[in-house]
Amino acid sequence: MAKFMITGGKKLEGSVRVTGAKNSVLPILAAALLTTKEIVLKDCPDLADIEKVIGILRAVGSKVKREGSTLIVDPSTITTWVIPDKFVKEIRSSIIFLGAMIARLGKAKVTYPGGCEIGQRPINLHLEGLKKLGIEVNDSYGYIECYAPAPMGAEIHLDYPSVGATENIILAATAAHGYTIIRNAAKEPEIGDLQNFINAIGGKVCGAGTSTIIVEGKRPMRGATHTIIPDRIVAGTYLTAAAITGGEVLIENVILDHIYPVVAKLRESGAIIKSVGSAVLIKGRDRPLPIYHTTTLPYPGFPTDMQAPLMSLLSVSSGTSVMVETIFENRFKHVPELIRMGANIRIDGKTAVVQGVDSLRGTTVTSHDLRGGAALVLAGLRAEGQTIVENTYHIERGYECLECKLRSLGAEIEKI
Ligand code: EPZ
Repeated sequence: MAKFMITGGKKLEGSVRVTGAKNSVLPILAAALLTTKEIVLKDCPDLADIEKVIGILRAVGSKVKREGSTLIVDPSTITTWVIPDKFVKEIRSSIIFLGAMIARLGKAKVTYPGGCEIGQRPINLHLEGLKKLGIEVNDSYGYIECYAPAPMGAEIHLDYPSVGATENIILAATAAHGYTIIRNAAKEPEIGDLQNFINAIGGKVCGAGTSTIIVEGKRPMRGATHTIIPDRIVAGTYLTAAAITGGEVLIENVILDHIYPVVAKLRESGAIIKSVGSAVLIKGRDRPLPIYHTTTLPYPGFPTDMQAPLMSLLSVSSGTSVMVETIFENRFKHVPELIRMGANIRIDGKTAVVQGVDSLRGTTVTSHDLRGGAALVLAGLRAEGQTIVENTYHIERGYECLECKLRSLGAEIEKI
């Protein structure tokens, strides 16, 4: 298993460009099934999770070509309505193909996605929403089989603003007769990107970014070229890397609105951050200030995907900070690893109390999930001595050559 070897203590300096958002590419690749015409997607990073979703598209009959960061998808021939098990087990967000496949073929079959490292990841909101569209959903023997000879537009209220459920229902609703209204919809920017893509290929979706989304179904679809929005979590991770090392970094290709919750918190820690066109310039403080209280919430609240990276910063602050994780039930797996590096963190249910320490010390730590692994890399950038981060495959699911990008900013990091 590959590892990162990091020698801490270097202030990051220079500039780095943020690539397209993984959590936008995934649902938009599924949405390619809504049309039979060629789709061109620009600024798609080369990530393990995206390669797996490309594998699903190929397995159901589409052709997909990668030219650098551009993906060219030919969805004209779909040979099956069954999403192969192996992909679903490798990447649970493949459940998003349910809605897209139903829209394309009127039926779909997928194995129940398991939970993952950060939680049980139920899909009840997805299935209840699909049923409201008149889709027959049978789950038996670990499989979900959906039949939708004539889905009908409906009014759907989500108990919780689930990102995946919102996306799945939008995809299925594009094939429903009439209008579908989704209330208490997720407002994440990736939903807006999906809306813009569906509209670019001829669909009619509006309201993304608000709690109420309206989809007009049964519209003729065409091809399109679409550029993926910047990855707000990758941007937040680079910002935090600059902050934790007390460096000065220009982060390019950022939509400030999308990362405002993170910018607000980093400013609270004493970082100076200003917007420079479509870039953001950050100057970290030598010793971060504590951040009194942070709670992860659905967008536009503080993102759960930035909880672990921010906790690494809090670990070396000059006081006590409180972090509450309200989205996933098992997303503190980086904490025991940070404690091995000398952090002083106490977990009490959903709440972590972080008492900042003067310094962390390098040692061998293990990544247990994508964002927790990134947090350990950030801690290693600050720690005294050498840090070895194991199981880098978790990190490579969501960060394109993180070690190359950090090395270009002056970090002493290499993959071994
Ligand atoms: C998306 O996951 C992202 N993944 C996650 O990013 C992100 O952390 C999450 O949204 C929250 O922002 C992708 O977009 C591929 P949810 P998703 O449905 O759609 C509960 C990363 O690091 N829930 O909004 O699965 C669920 O258990 C990943 O890139 C139900 O109860 O998130 C969780 O507690 C990790 N029933 C909460 O909602 C359901 O049917 C949020 O889940 C669906 C969800």
